[in-house]
Amino acid sequence: MPVKLQGLEDNARKTSISELQACMTDGLSLSMALKQAHWNLRGANFIAVHELLDAVKARLDPNVDELAERIQQLDGAAVGTVEEVAGSTSLKPYPTDLTKSADHIREISDRMRNYGERVRAAIDATEKAGDATTADILTAASGQADKDLWFLASHLE
Ligand SMILES: [Fe+2]
Repeated sequence: MPVKLQGLEDNARKTSISELQACMTDGLSLSMALKQAHWNLRGANFIAVHELLDAVKARLDPNVDELAERIQQLDGAAVGTVEEVAGSTSLKPYPTDLTKSADHIREISDRMRNYGERVRAAIDATEKAGDATTADILTAASGQADKDLWFLASHLE
């Protein structure tokens, strides 16, 4: 049985579903990139960065989960398989040949910026469409992403 949230126009619902799906896709892609960096980096500050990357992922994943679950509340269907994410993420493929800590931090920071930018665009779009609740969920994700980008980027000169 559909959830059928009341007081929400159909066009707002459709806009929110597609914006949430796009952000969720980039969030899942970023989440996997964080693990790739967590496993492969090397250098003097290894343990600090290794642990920070896992902490960032642990804060990102529940936000991505909220985006997916909001899609379901809107009677959409969240698509989160690795095959679909690989085909539709707007993030660049994460390099698999990096070892230097600074290179990983730079690559992850670039993707955090792209994810943050995509989420900000979704906040604007869902607000304009009249779905303040979705905009609010996206705003929470955006605030966390900005803070974690600061943690990561501050390692670079
Ligand atoms: Fe680990």
